[in-house]
Amino acid sequence: MKLTLKIWRQKDNKSKGELKTYPIDGVEGDMSFLEMLDVLNEGLINKGEEPVVFDHDCREGICGSCSLQINGEPHGPDRLVTTCQLHMRMFNDGDTIVIEPFRAKAFPVIKDLVVDRSAFDRIQQAGGYISVNTSGNTIDANTIPVNKHDADESFNAATCIGCGACVAACKNASAMLFTSAKVSQFALLPQGRIEATERVLNMVAQMDKEGFGNCSNTGACEIECPKGISLENIARMNREYLSASLKG
Ligand code: SF4
Ligand code: FES
Repeated sequence: MKLTLKIWRQKDNKSKGELKTYPIDGVEGDMSFLEMLDVLNEGLINKGEEPVVFDHDCREGICGSCSLQINGEPHGPDRLVTTCQLHMRMFNDGDTIVIEPFRAKAFPVIKDLVVDRSAFDRIQQAGGYISVNTSGNTIDANTIPVNKHDADESFNAATCIGCGACVAACKNASAMLFTSAKVSQFALLPQGRIEATERVLNMVAQMDKEGFGNCSNTGACEIECPKGISLENIARMNREYLSASLKG
Protein backbone atom coordinates (compact mmCIF):
# COMPACT_ATOMS: atom_id res chain seq x y z
CA MET A 1 0.00 0.00 0.00
CA LYS A 2 0.98 3.59 -0.64
CA LEU A 3 -0.24 5.99 2.02
CA THR A 4 -0.01 9.67 2.85
CA LEU A 5 0.66 10.35 6.54
CA LYS A 6 -0.11 13.72 8.10
CA ILE A 7 1.77 13.65 11.39
CA TRP A 8 1.81 16.16 14.27
CA ARG A 9 5.37 17.40 14.79
CA GLN A 10 6.16 19.50 17.84
CA LYS A 11 9.69 20.16 19.07
CA ASP A 12 8.78 20.50 22.74
CA ASN A 13 6.10 21.66 25.13
CA LYS A 14 6.85 25.33 24.49
CA SER A 15 6.97 25.20 20.68
CA LYS A 16 3.99 25.45 18.37
CA GLY A 17 3.27 22.19 16.56
CA GLU A 18 2.02 21.51 13.02
CA LEU A 19 0.91 18.65 10.79
CA LYS A 20 3.61 17.57 8.34
CA THR A 21 3.00 15.35 5.32
CA TYR A 22 4.98 12.15 4.71
CA PRO A 23 4.33 9.78 1.80
CA ILE A 24 5.06 6.12 2.60
CA ASP A 25 5.23 3.09 0.27
CA GLY A 26 5.41 -0.69 0.77
CA VAL A 27 3.06 -0.85 3.76
CA GLU A 28 1.79 -4.42 4.32
CA GLY A 29 -1.65 -5.19 5.73
CA ASP A 30 -0.10 -7.47 8.38
CA MET A 31 2.07 -4.66 9.79
CA SER A 32 0.93 -3.08 13.02
CA PHE A 33 0.42 0.67 13.05
CA LEU A 34 3.60 1.09 15.09
CA GLU A 35 5.59 -1.11 12.69
CA MET A 36 4.42 1.15 9.88
CA LEU A 37 5.77 4.14 11.85
CA ASP A 38 9.05 2.20 12.41
CA VAL A 39 9.41 1.90 8.62
CA LEU A 40 8.74 5.62 8.23
CA ASN A 41 11.32 6.44 10.92
CA GLU A 42 14.00 4.21 9.35
CA GLY A 43 13.50 6.13 6.10
CA LEU A 44 13.72 9.49 7.90
CA ILE A 45 16.90 8.45 9.77
CA ASN A 46 18.49 7.24 6.49
CA LYS A 47 17.76 10.67 4.97
CA GLY A 48 19.32 12.40 7.99
CA GLU A 49 15.96 13.71 9.22
CA GLU A 50 14.66 13.57 12.77
CA PRO A 51 12.42 10.50 13.40
CA VAL A 52 8.86 10.91 14.65
CA VAL A 53 8.71 10.44 18.44
CA PHE A 54 5.90 8.20 19.72
CA ASP A 55 5.24 6.23 22.92
CA HIS A 56 5.34 2.43 23.02
CA ASP A 57 6.59 -0.40 25.21
CA CYS A 58 4.96 -3.86 25.24
CA ARG A 59 3.39 -3.70 21.76
CA GLU A 60 0.90 -6.33 23.01
CA GLY A 61 -1.97 -4.21 24.33
CA ILE A 62 -0.87 -4.55 27.95
CA CYS A 63 1.16 -1.54 29.08
CA GLY A 64 -1.00 1.37 27.91
CA SER A 65 1.97 3.33 26.53
CA CYS A 66 0.89 3.65 22.92
CA SER A 67 -1.47 6.55 22.52
CA LEU A 68 -2.18 7.90 19.06
CA GLN A 69 -5.17 9.81 17.78
CA ILE A 70 -5.63 8.27 14.31
CA ASN A 71 -8.03 10.02 11.92
CA GLY A 72 -9.64 11.64 14.97
CA GLU A 73 -10.11 8.41 16.98
CA PRO A 74 -7.98 7.31 19.94
CA HIS A 75 -6.27 4.03 18.91
CA GLY A 76 -7.76 4.35 15.39
CA PRO A 77 -10.74 2.83 13.59
CA ASP A 78 -10.73 -0.73 15.04
CA ARG A 79 -12.57 -1.58 18.30
CA LEU A 80 -11.16 -3.06 21.53
CA VAL A 81 -7.55 -2.74 20.36
CA THR A 82 -4.68 -0.45 21.27
CA THR A 83 -2.63 1.40 18.65
CA CYS A 84 0.06 -1.30 18.84
CA GLN A 85 -2.55 -3.98 18.02
CA LEU A 86 -4.09 -2.01 15.14
CA HIS A 87 -3.26 -3.60 11.79
CA MET A 88 -2.67 -1.71 8.57
CA ARG A 89 -5.27 -3.93 6.85
CA MET A 90 -7.82 -1.56 8.41
CA PHE A 91 -6.67 1.01 5.81
CA ASN A 92 -6.77 1.08 2.00
CA ASP A 93 -4.15 1.81 -0.62
CA GLY A 94 -4.08 5.56 -1.30
CA ASP A 95 -5.52 6.54 2.11
CA THR A 96 -4.46 9.69 3.93
CA ILE A 97 -4.03 9.08 7.68
CA VAL A 98 -3.90 11.95 10.19
CA ILE A 99 -1.85 11.04 13.27
CA GLU A 100 -1.95 13.30 16.35
CA PRO A 101 -1.16 13.02 20.05
CA PHE A 102 -3.98 12.48 22.58
CA ARG A 103 -5.43 15.98 23.11
CA ALA A 104 -6.28 17.16 26.64
CA LYS A 105 -5.19 20.06 28.85
CA ALA A 106 -4.12 17.55 31.52
CA PHE A 107 -1.98 15.64 28.96
CA PRO A 108 0.55 18.26 27.75
CA VAL A 109 2.57 17.34 24.65
CA ILE A 110 6.21 16.47 25.44
CA LYS A 111 7.35 16.00 21.84
CA ASP A 112 5.62 15.09 18.56
CA LEU A 113 3.13 12.33 19.48
CA VAL A 114 4.19 11.82 23.11
CA VAL A 115 2.09 13.34 25.88
CA ASP A 116 2.70 13.53 29.62
CA ARG A 117 0.15 11.20 31.30
CA SER A 118 1.66 11.45 34.79
CA ALA A 119 -1.67 12.98 35.93
CA PHE A 120 -2.99 9.39 35.85
CA ASP A 121 -0.14 8.26 38.13
CA ARG A 122 -1.03 10.97 40.64
CA ILE A 123 -4.71 9.91 40.62
CA GLN A 124 -3.57 6.34 41.34
CA GLN A 125 -1.24 7.50 44.11
CA ALA A 126 -4.15 9.35 45.74
CA GLY A 127 -5.97 6.08 46.53
CA GLY A 128 -5.26 3.21 44.16
CA TYR A 129 -3.97 0.83 46.81
CA ILE A 130 -5.12 -1.38 49.70
CA SER A 131 -3.75 -2.07 53.20
CA VAL A 132 -2.15 -5.49 53.56
CA ASN A 133 -0.62 -6.97 56.71
CA THR A 134 2.99 -7.73 55.74
CA SER A 135 4.11 -8.69 59.25
CA GLY A 136 4.79 -12.28 58.29
CA ASN A 137 1.26 -13.39 59.16
CA THR A 138 -0.19 -12.29 55.82
CA ILE A 139 -3.45 -14.05 55.04
CA ASP A 140 -3.66 -15.48 51.54
CA ALA A 141 -6.16 -13.43 49.53
CA ASN A 142 -7.87 -16.64 48.40
CA THR A 143 -9.00 -17.42 51.96
CA ILE A 144 -11.47 -14.49 51.84
CA PRO A 145 -14.65 -15.58 49.99
CA VAL A 146 -15.67 -13.25 47.15
CA ASN A 147 -18.95 -13.51 45.28
CA LYS A 148 -18.28 -14.66 41.66
CA HIS A 149 -20.15 -11.75 40.07
CA ASP A 150 -18.20 -9.20 42.15
CA ALA A 151 -14.89 -10.95 41.41
CA ASP A 152 -15.62 -10.85 37.66
CA GLU A 153 -16.69 -7.20 37.75
CA SER A 154 -13.61 -6.26 39.76
CA PHE A 155 -11.39 -8.12 37.30
CA ASN A 156 -13.04 -6.37 34.36
CA ALA A 157 -12.38 -2.97 35.97
CA ALA A 158 -8.78 -3.99 36.67
CA THR A 159 -8.14 -4.57 32.96
CA CYS A 160 -7.87 -0.78 32.49
CA ILE A 161 -4.34 -0.17 31.18
CA GLY A 162 -4.30 3.57 31.88
CA CYS A 163 -3.81 4.50 28.22
CA GLY A 164 -5.86 7.71 28.33
CA ALA A 165 -7.99 7.01 25.25
CA CYS A 166 -11.11 7.73 27.32
CA VAL A 167 -9.83 11.24 28.02
CA ALA A 168 -8.85 11.81 24.39
CA ALA A 169 -12.28 10.62 23.18
CA CYS A 170 -14.24 12.83 25.57
CA LYS A 171 -15.35 16.30 24.45
CA ASN A 172 -14.80 17.43 28.07
CA ALA A 173 -11.45 15.57 28.41
CA SER A 174 -12.95 13.81 31.43
CA ALA A 175 -11.00 11.09 33.24
CA MET A 176 -14.09 9.58 34.88
CA LEU A 177 -13.85 6.21 33.08
CA PHE A 178 -10.21 5.71 34.10
CA THR A 179 -10.73 6.87 37.70
CA SER A 180 -13.92 4.85 38.08
CA ALA A 181 -12.17 1.69 36.87
CA LYS A 182 -9.43 2.23 39.46
CA VAL A 183 -12.03 2.85 42.21
CA SER A 184 -14.24 -0.07 41.12
CA GLN A 185 -11.54 -2.73 41.10
CA PHE A 186 -11.27 -2.26 44.89
CA ALA A 187 -14.83 -1.17 45.71
CA LEU A 188 -16.13 -4.62 44.74
CA LEU A 189 -13.73 -6.61 46.94
CA PRO A 190 -13.72 -7.02 50.75
CA GLN A 191 -10.00 -6.16 50.73
CA GLY A 192 -10.83 -2.78 49.21
CA ARG A 193 -13.41 -1.72 51.78
CA ILE A 194 -10.85 -0.63 54.41
CA GLU A 195 -9.87 2.58 52.60
CA ALA A 196 -13.06 2.85 50.51
CA THR A 197 -14.16 6.23 51.90
CA GLU A 198 -10.85 8.06 51.55
CA ARG A 199 -10.08 6.32 48.26
CA VAL A 200 -12.98 7.68 46.27
CA LEU A 201 -12.84 11.15 47.84
CA ASN A 202 -9.08 11.50 47.30
CA MET A 203 -8.98 10.08 43.80
CA VAL A 204 -11.84 12.28 42.59
CA ALA A 205 -10.25 15.34 44.24
CA GLN A 206 -6.94 14.59 42.48
CA MET A 207 -8.74 14.05 39.17
CA ASP A 208 -10.31 17.51 39.47
CA LYS A 209 -7.00 19.07 40.56
CA GLU A 210 -5.27 17.72 37.44
CA GLY A 211 -7.66 19.70 35.23
CA PHE A 212 -9.75 16.91 33.68
CA GLY A 213 -13.28 17.93 32.67
CA ASN A 214 -16.63 16.74 33.97
CA CYS A 215 -18.56 13.74 32.70
CA SER A 216 -21.66 14.63 30.67
CA ASN A 217 -22.65 11.00 29.93
CA THR A 218 -21.81 11.13 26.22
CA GLY A 219 -20.29 7.63 26.31
CA ALA A 220 -17.49 8.22 23.77
CA CYS A 221 -15.00 6.94 26.37
CA GLU A 222 -16.66 3.52 26.54
CA ILE A 223 -16.73 3.21 22.74
CA GLU A 224 -13.04 4.07 22.29
CA CYS A 225 -11.71 2.19 25.34
CA PRO A 226 -9.46 -0.64 24.08
CA LYS A 227 -10.33 -2.76 27.14
CA GLY A 228 -14.11 -2.36 27.03
CA ILE A 229 -14.32 -0.64 30.42
CA SER A 230 -18.03 -0.08 31.02
CA LEU A 231 -19.83 3.15 31.96
CA GLU A 232 -21.29 1.13 34.85
CA ASN A 233 -18.01 1.85 36.63
CA ILE A 234 -18.77 5.59 36.51
CA ALA A 235 -22.20 4.94 38.06
CA ARG A 236 -20.53 2.82 40.76
CA MET A 237 -17.95 5.54 41.47
CA ASN A 238 -20.74 8.13 41.77
CA ARG A 239 -22.53 5.90 44.32
CA GLU A 240 -19.28 5.36 46.24
CA TYR A 241 -18.64 9.12 46.18
CA LEU A 242 -22.12 9.98 47.44
CA SER A 243 -21.91 7.46 50.26
CA ALA A 244 -18.38 8.62 51.21
CA SER A 245 -19.47 12.29 51.19
CA LEU A 246 -22.41 11.52 53.51
CA LYS A 247 -20.05 9.72 55.90
CA GLY A 248 -17.51 12.54 55.70
S1 SF4 B 1 -10.66 3.26 30.90
FE1 SF4 B 1 -10.05 2.35 28.92
S2 SF4 B 1 -9.49 4.12 27.64
FE2 SF4 B 1 -9.48 4.81 29.78
S3 SF4 B 1 -7.39 4.57 30.50
FE3 SF4 B 1 -8.48 2.66 31.05
S4 SF4 B 1 -8.12 1.30 29.31
FE4 SF4 B 1 -7.56 3.34 28.56
S1 FES C 1 2.66 -0.53 23.47
FE1 FES C 1 1.86 -1.45 25.29
S2 FES C 1 -0.30 -1.28 25.01
FE2 FES C 1 0.51 -0.57 23.11
